[in-house]
Amino acid sequence: MNKPVHILAIESSCDDTSAAVISDGQVLSNLIATQKVHEKFGGVVPEMASRAHMQNIIPVVDVALREAGIEKEDIQVVAFTQSPGLIGSLLVGACFAKAYAQALDVPIIAVNHMQAHVLAHFIEEPRPVFPFLCLTVSGGHTQVVLCRSHLDMEILGQTMDDAAGEAFDKVAKMLGLPYPGGPLVDKYAQQGDPHKFTFPLPEMKDYEFSFSGLKTSVLYFLQKQKKIDPDFVANNLNDICASVQYTIIKMLLNKLHKAAKALRIDQVGIAGGVSANSGLRKALVEMGENEGWQVYIPKFEYCTDNAAMIGITAHYKYLHGQFADMAVSPAARGSWS
Ligand code: KG4
Ligand code: ZN
Repeated sequence: MNKPVHILAIESSCDDTSAAVISDGQVLSNLIATQKVHEKFGGVVPEMASRAHMQNIIPVVDVALREAGIEKEDIQVVAFTQSPGLIGSLLVGACFAKAYAQALDVPIIAVNHMQAHVLAHFIEEPRPVFPFLCLTVSGGHTQVVLCRSHLDMEILGQTMDDAAGEAFDKVAKMLGLPYPGGPLVDKYAQQGDPHKFTFPLPEMKDYEFSFSGLKTSVLYFLQKQKKIDPDFVANNLNDICASVQYTIIKMLLNKLHKAAKALRIDQVGIAGGVSANSGLRKALVEMGENEGWQVYIPKFEYCTDNAAMIGITAHYKYLHGQFADMAVSPAARGSWS
């Protein structure tokens, strides 16, 4: 019997330092250290993120190996997030992965972060059947992706300005909520009326999205209402969150629906941080039932940034012999972004 192939995967594209061990496509460990330092600034401070990655990366990797029950000498491949992301944060992960691999004399695999979000669907059963349509919604991206195979993906359309996660976070900031505001908007929205306030939906062609108009209309709406009632936000927080969330979900699912119909695809999923949103998950399940789709939603721990998704992507790249050059340098935007 062949020895299992252990891949050590590193994710450091934004403000989570994560390490995972994958063995022949099975996750043995998946550690995530979330940086709290950004909360008080209302957003990620890139320089602080890089420094925190440098502090966290060695302990996170050590615990990932311990939890997986392996020694570093058992690692056969080191994988890392190449792009897209914050350049300093990516460099910490890339340099660490490269040095670690060199010390162990093993190859490296460079992974695209957005492709990894999609492939998070292949970590556990039930796994989608190809062709598979995935709506990838994160803090920096919003994409409708056609997946023909694990490594053959095409971005059919994406946002022309802000990402869906950014829209959640910026609205949350206007409401005085701390960063990242997406999960808090989700929480308050669960108690609110999604039809209490109406915000316009943009007219975007094909599978394109735009969220900057929503941001502006929420800002003007709040300014107007606060002139009438200075406590408007406090008195209507649940309903504001529910109405904004309803609008974002409508924008997202309208395009996903359009693509699934046009391409006649019935394997449909969501991925990325915003796929943790309870309203989006529920609305997709309902749409899937109405349309006869097989719907795929990742477990919460695989929605937001994690190294297990980098590891599973590296697993498929390993099977196809797609190794990276040791001199590889991360770019803020990769060819797949
Ligand atoms: O994929 P991710 O962890 O990092 C990026 O690659 O950007 O996504 C982070 C984004 C943030 O904007 C965060 O507010 C949003 O995902 N997010 C949510 C929820 N959980 C995370 N947005 C809405 N509802 C949630 N439950
Ligand atoms: Zn992400």
